Amino acid sequence: MLLPNLKEARERTKKDYQRQEYHLDEALKGKYTGKKYYLKTYGCQMNEHDSENIKALLEELGFDETTDYKNADLLLLNTCSIRENAHNKAFGMLGRFKHLKEERPEIVIGLCGCMAQEEQVVIDIMERAPFVNFVFGTHNIHRLPTLLDECLHTKHQEIEVYSREGDIIEKMPVHRESTYKAFVNIIYGCDKFCTYCIVPYTRGKQQSRKKEDIIDEVLELVHEGYQEVTLLGQNVNAYGKDLEGDYGMAELLEDVAKTNIPRIRFVTSHPWDFTSSMIDVIKRYPNIMPSIHLPVQSGSDRILKLMGRRYTKASYLTLFHQLKEQIPNCAISTDIIVGFPGETNAEFEETLALAKECKFDNAFTFIFSPRAGTPAAKLEDPITKEEKEERLQRLNEVVNHYFLLNNQKLIDQTVPVLVEGTSEKNENLLFGYTDTNKLINFEGSKDLIGKIVPVKVTEAKTWSLDGVYDGR
Ligand code: 5AD
Ligand code: SF4
Repeated sequence: MLLPNLKEARERTKKDYQRQEYHLDEALKGKYTGKKYYLKTYGCQMNEHDSENIKALLEELGFDETTDYKNADLLLLNTCSIRENAHNKAFGMLGRFKHLKEERPEIVIGLCGCMAQEEQVVIDIMERAPFVNFVFGTHNIHRLPTLLDECLHTKHQEIEVYSREGDIIEKMPVHRESTYKAFVNIIYGCDKFCTYCIVPYTRGKQQSRKKEDIIDEVLELVHEGYQEVTLLGQNVNAYGKDLEGDYGMAELLEDVAKTNIPRIRFVTSHPWDFTSSMIDVIKRYPNIMPSIHLPVQSGSDRILKLMGRRYTKASYLTLFHQLKEQIPNCAISTDIIVGFPGETNAEFEETLALAKECKFDNAFTFIFSPRAGTPAAKLEDPITKEEKEERLQRLNEVVNHYFLLNNQKLIDQTVPVLVEGTSEKNENLLFGYTDTNKLINFEGSKDLIGKIVPVKVTEAKTWSLDGVYDGR
């Protein structure tokens, strides 16, 4: 049994990680053929991509996927810690699994992801949820086959969570959800320690993958006909800072662009690490999409300082306008937190003013959620829940207004769209994403799926566009 410890997770060591390659024990291959797994994923794209690895690991053991948890032999939750409601959802689901286990005691239940890295969650599971058979964390996904096999063998609750990042494991199998778009990890963890954020504890220190491993993965995707890669990291702009030499995000972006993959995206960028050489590369390579996610979090300098964000409103705006001026048609999206402890009405008004100035193409807005173990969770917070909800609503009205205005500007323009499939609501419509990452539904034949095609925008809504195929 190996339990997580937040204090240890906070420490940053100089120790270099080793690069290891994944190998499955031959004896486990196909051992569970005929069994079914159900996997539910919460949270960010990093978690979604981890789930693509988890699925492939289970499939090597012989498991097949089912989307109905009531039919599954193995039920696994890949969890998120970022805000309290993500926690609550996962615990709600565990409650349902518990009922199922009362009817079918032979089922096996597991929990992994960021919540598994939280001390208190694991203690609660040990004390109050004996029906959970096994727990593993974000640093030892590769151990799933062995751990699961042990748990099935011993019938004990198996808990194995490393507090610190271990080695980087390359060549894990992956069950990609799309045959057109792929996630590629470039950097794990985060060293920024924004005061509200649990991620540096649950995902460990910044560790970049070797550039050769990244480029090889992208080249393989190109070979398989993939149209788009999204380079993933909690803070992709810090890429390379933990490695020897001067090779950073700008150089990596350029090398990925040279693979000729048709589309490149990257998330998430911390404004502090966004360099002018990155802007220069984005400008020069048309396969790097003009769409940048640049979380601002707040428009007040006092709050930004309390958040530990390392930039001011003025320096954010300078970068924002540089991106807008230098990268043609650049769409910028953001994340904003309202109701940070002690945020005054005037400080909230500064956030509103910034949202009005930036006219973001998209924005994810949140109410501050205290996360145990983070510095901000200890701050006095006199603002009521109602007040915070009202601020969120006011902010949403402002940002939504600009989503619509930005979308309306595209009417009658022809934009490139990677077609992903038929619309869930209407079988006769296709859907895809524009270069600037806007969802568009349009009329066209199904053989366009998987291709990047021109689509003329005919109508704009707040969160999507309508259009028609414009292939002449
Ligand atoms: N409360 C509310 N929002 C948070 N985020 C991160 N931590 C918290 C928290 N404790 C938001 C930030 C971040 C996004 C992924 O989630 O805006 O950019
Ligand atoms: Fe969290 Fe992002 Fe700040 Fe890192 S940069 S601590 S992931 S908000």
